[in-house]
Amino acid sequence: MTEATTQTEEPVYVVDELISKDIDAYLEQHEHKTMLRFITCGSVDDGKSTLIGRLLYDSKMIFEDQLDALTSDSKKVGTQGQDIDFALLVDGLAAEREQGITIDVAYRFFNTEKRKFIVADCPGHEQYTRNMVTGASTADLAVILIDARKGVLVQTRRHSYICHLLGVKNIVLAVNKMDLVDYKQEVFDKIVADYTEFASSIGIESFTAMPISGFKGDNITKPSENTPWYKGPTLVDHLETVEVLSSADAEKPFRMPVQWVNRPNLDFRGFSGLIATGEVKPGDKIRVLPSGKTSTVSKIVTFDGELDEAGAGQSVTVCFEDEIDCSRGSVISVADNPPQTADQFEATLVWMADDAMVPGRAYWLKLGTQMVSATVQEPKYEVNVNTMEHLAAKTLELNAIGVAEIATDKQVVFEPYADNRALGGFILIDKMTNATVAAGMLNFSLRRSQNVHWQALDIGRKQHAGLKNQQPAVLWFTGLSGSGKSTIANLVEKKLHRMNRHTFLLDGDNVRHGLNKDLGFTESDRIENIRRVGEVSKLMADAGLIVITAFISPFQADREMVRSMLPEGEFFEVFIDTPLKVAEARDVKGLYKKARSGELKNFTGIDSPYEAPRNPEIRIDTTAVSPEEAANLIVDALLGDS
Ligand code: ADX
Repeated sequence: MTEATTQTEEPVYVVDELISKDIDAYLEQHEHKTMLRFITCGSVDDGKSTLIGRLLYDSKMIFEDQLDALTSDSKKVGTQGQDIDFALLVDGLAAEREQGITIDVAYRFFNTEKRKFIVADCPGHEQYTRNMVTGASTADLAVILIDARKGVLVQTRRHSYICHLLGVKNIVLAVNKMDLVDYKQEVFDKIVADYTEFASSIGIESFTAMPISGFKGDNITKPSENTPWYKGPTLVDHLETVEVLSSADAEKPFRMPVQWVNRPNLDFRGFSGLIATGEVKPGDKIRVLPSGKTSTVSKIVTFDGELDEAGAGQSVTVCFEDEIDCSRGSVISVADNPPQTADQFEATLVWMADDAMVPGRAYWLKLGTQMVSATVQEPKYEVNVNTMEHLAAKTLELNAIGVAEIATDKQVVFEPYADNRALGGFILIDKMTNATVAAGMLNFSLRRSQNVHWQALDIGRKQHAGLKNQQPAVLWFTGLSGSGKSTIANLVEKKLHRMNRHTFLLDGDNVRHGLNKDLGFTESDRIENIRRVGEVSKLMADAGLIVITAFISPFQADREMVRSMLPEGEFFEVFIDTPLKVAEARDVKGLYKKARSGELKNFTGIDSPYEAPRNPEIRIDTTAVSPEEAANLIVDALLGDS
């Protein structure tokens, strides 16, 4: 059935005989194979590499990208797959795993006659939680390895919890190294009983347990004579026949996140994407979210022509009978059973970055094709992944898993992750570095703002500003403590006042005596300080005022957040650029001295960062111009020549 071709210097593949005999039949057979993605969980000691090696070796699977690399040192490669040295194969896998351990997840691809497989092989230690999360997020099945001599361990629980959390529906409890416990049924039964108790405590409803030996090959491809008391399937049987998730997805209501709008010419307008769940046919009534507009499917197009129907897992272009709004990030759904939209959620997060989560900071939230700005609140709790205990937490550090509330700046179309991975799973991205900092799962929406409707008022910002005969604006000063923000802001306000402009100056030191007296100088307190001042500035601009603010506002992301709250062209970032040396030499309030002596902690520029604006509307070099000149420059920039 299988055959290895060997030529020195050439890569070695175990090749299916059909390829050479009847290529069409071979392709046909492979094309209709389903794909199973699975993850193996366990550490090196549990025999993970041995098991994967055994799977590849015993089932004569065609593993396309690995074998050549793994066997290139081998002198023993023969003409049959079976001649590849087993120990060498396992060593190769283990070595590769070690090299890749700090990188990510090793994916291995292979085939049997019945199915195609992708195995995610992830390191098992707690510090690699994020790697496991990556591997589990796309897996249909998890093989949880247990050493028969050791039973259910802390790591067994952790791995199971993460797989369950990430929505892996099929769990295989592979009780390994049965040869080392003399294939005793009592040992197996005891482990299964222990695991059953734990599994039900975290909501795993069912799993398939099997006694195996990766090393000896028991119950991997053939029922083992050593375990006559075991009547269940072998591991390969199970992997080949277990129902894959996508068939369950097909029965769910139709949802397709739009990846792009396909408009090659004026006569054609279609919406392309991957169908996440359900099926669609021409004539179906659909609804586009978040707008809620409805239409009817006129046709479904693919590279191979038009389709009578399409389902979960297929990439298609859907056309409508009506010209309704629909763009990248929209979700097309069956009309009478659409997903929800919301802007506040409870979510479970796995923190993946070296820098801990900053409550209140704005991150990009990417959910399928939707991208919005989102802030995360202080966690409700962190989960101790070894004991499942809930712990109080102020933040989430690298590899921590916790539950927190998230608010987005726009409506997000979603479904709880437990119902739909595609519409419930998301990542958070740092706005400055573009690094993925967290993976998350939406649990449910918070209906807080759902019943608070925006009140349309007759006298709006236009009327307010019109009466004052001016254009509202926010002059947002930023710079180090002692840079001259307050001094210059004060002069600017005096000038504008003299010109009959209606202004209001919000100054850091003053606001911190009232509205923000509950806030200190930690990163999240500063973020909240700026968020509140931003909201107040926005209200004042709505009232028609020219608002001047003087806050250090050290973080670019927060200044950008305020910018995004205001209409285009109304936010002026005014960078009062004074080098630290100069501000420190002035030390008007004596605070730098205190900070240097350690008496004052978290002082900007000393032991707390200042991120200078990258592209301010106005930059004032206070070492080159006087406060009076600076004020003139700013007023000119604001009012132009008028
Ligand atoms: S911000 O960082 O949150 O924007 P804000 O402008 O409101 O700061 O307040 C800064 C003022 O608080 C400074 O001008 C200084 O007088 C005072 N201050 C007290 N402690 C600190 C500190 N640790 N860092 C910076 N400023 C401080």
